[in-house]
Amino acid sequence: MSIDPFPTPTPEIENLLAEDRKFPPDPAFAAQANATAELYAEAEADPEAFWARLARERIDWVEDFHTTLEWDLPFAKWFVGGKLNIAYNCIDRHVERGLGHKVAYHWIGEPGDTRTITFADLQREVSKAANALLELGVQTGDRVAIYMPMIPELPIAMLACARIGAPHTVVFGGFSAEALSGRISDCQAKLVITADGGWRRGKPAPLKPAVDEALESSPTIEHTLVVRRLGDAVEGGTAMQDGRDVWWDDIVDRQPPVHEPVALDSEHMLYLLYTSGTTAKPKGIVHSTAGYLLGASFTHEMVFDVKPDDVYWCAADVGWVTGHSYIVYGPLANATTSVLYEGTPDTPDWGRWWQIIEDYKVNILYCAPTAIRAHMKQGAQYAQAHDLSSLRVLGSVGEPINPVAWLWYQKHIGAGTKPIVDTWWQTETGMIMITPLPGVTTTKPGSATFPFPGIEVDVIDSAGNTVPLGGGGLLVLKRPWPAMLRGIYGDPERYKETYWSRFPGMYFAGDGAKRDLEGYLWLLGRVDDVMNVSGHRLSTTEIESALVSHPAVAEAAVVGGPDPVTGEAINAFVILRLGPSNEPTPALGDELRKHVATKISPIAKPKGLMFVPDLPKTRSGKIMRRLLRDIAQGRALGDTTTLADAGVVDLIRSNTGASED
Ligand code: PRX
Repeated sequence: MSIDPFPTPTPEIENLLAEDRKFPPDPAFAAQANATAELYAEAEADPEAFWARLARERIDWVEDFHTTLEWDLPFAKWFVGGKLNIAYNCIDRHVERGLGHKVAYHWIGEPGDTRTITFADLQREVSKAANALLELGVQTGDRVAIYMPMIPELPIAMLACARIGAPHTVVFGGFSAEALSGRISDCQAKLVITADGGWRRGKPAPLKPAVDEALESSPTIEHTLVVRRLGDAVEGGTAMQDGRDVWWDDIVDRQPPVHEPVALDSEHMLYLLYTSGTTAKPKGIVHSTAGYLLGASFTHEMVFDVKPDDVYWCAADVGWVTGHSYIVYGPLANATTSVLYEGTPDTPDWGRWWQIIEDYKVNILYCAPTAIRAHMKQGAQYAQAHDLSSLRVLGSVGEPINPVAWLWYQKHIGAGTKPIVDTWWQTETGMIMITPLPGVTTTKPGSATFPFPGIEVDVIDSAGNTVPLGGGGLLVLKRPWPAMLRGIYGDPERYKETYWSRFPGMYFAGDGAKRDLEGYLWLLGRVDDVMNVSGHRLSTTEIESALVSHPAVAEAAVVGGPDPVTGEAINAFVILRLGPSNEPTPALGDELRKHVATKISPIAKPKGLMFVPDLPKTRSGKIMRRLLRDIAQGRALGDTTTLADAGVVDLIRSNTGASED
């Protein structure tokens, strides 16, 4: 056997998709933008001084901090010695400065009922709720689980916890009783705040029965506090257990409307948020107070260019980190007026979001690529029927946004001109980490562009070396940042092992990325999903984006499956845009496979392609490629507990329109 003395290095991940469209900032927008290019220079010159300046300017402290950062890798403490209350910073200080009348939330229930909550209302309601928590025996440091629909009492409950220093753990209302009890047990929560249910797709969706089931195996819970949202709409009524279950109205309404916020340490645990690991047990990601408040509020103001009179709408669920940072803490700290919507985008029809934007003159919309692609599938006619001219900035988060979805978003929602901010971050990072700054950054569709000022990102190969520009590799973060996770609850070893052990001194995000020749960052999806075809390491994202660039396609997912010749072969699952000419025929399948070959490379041409009506997704909208791999290989499905809609898998299995080599 001969050994090649100069082997061609195999790139960590191939760079296939070339996107050369560019959108420089509109000069009129740039002239009024919150962010400036100088921020990058200031942050680079002295990151700690940069964050310290901002912390002093933006946070109302009870006691100033003495040390900006204590970095005992991988354990960080920010703004050490400082004391503050985050609920005070989100509410009371605005009221004290005369903004009590300002709307904090325009809440819209799915059936069409509405509530307007000002900062003064919020101060009263949060204070009453804080007093109720105290009456129920919750003390500073006790954990509280929150399991609620998207109603105003959800942020009120979080802020009441923050006000007394009881870390909350919000469990998304779509999760099962089992998921709820697992999280309660892990953090030994004392109280669950919940509701009788919420409205979803035109129907009442009860929640309390799942709480009752979860509590059968949650001995640490002493009480539940239950908001009445559905009332008589719950068939048979909501069962309440004497001595344990308390109606919100019964206890909160009679509390005094004032409560002195507790002064807490900068590093006090604000909340825990569970994120599913690739293996078994979910990780309780720990976030602390001051650094998180700074990271969430500063990025919110810069990335979305939020102005005092803007109406801002983040369409995520508060149960995800996006909701924590960009529906609750970031916007409230900035005294921003937000829209909070209870329901789904398709109820009563696909025009619902656009109606809300028209009604409330929304200026900023922040949502996920999965929602944009769902709207793309339905067609632009719904958006075109509404006046969206109030919109100024459009955001995307949660998955890579395919260039065509980006362009669709800008054209049909953003009148072809509004800046799009594709923001990369994670539950663990707490704040946006890679993003354009509107008015400053020239964007490219599909690229999250550059790290936020003060953030240091690298793309490395498996030996830890920086990949030259134009190449793909693994995304790492190289310096601590204020909103970073402080650990995994109760498991410092798992924290070290998961994030800090693969490359010493660097935070390993688990995502693939490439940097183009101009240094723009392109996220390539989870490293676990990378496929190895004939020795080429291919990211799912680029092939999916190539498929979505065909005018017939709304959404696509690709996965690898074993292949005797190439090692792995690419299988594609495709959702067509609705339209008379888009038929799921073998001929269209062949056309799409060839389209990928010409658009990016013959090595990326899917071997098999299947048309599907839907894709398996997590409840936060991410495609579950792991399950698609199981389907493609005819295996029994792995863990499906995070699957949003179990019926989708059967639909795909029973589907026929396949095309293959
Ligand atoms: O894979 C990346 C993807 O979502 C992961 C983090 O998920 P989660 O903790 O649920 O937080 C989602 C909301 C912040 C990342 O590791 N992701 C998130 N935003 C983007 C993204 N992938 C590409 N582009 C993005 N803008």
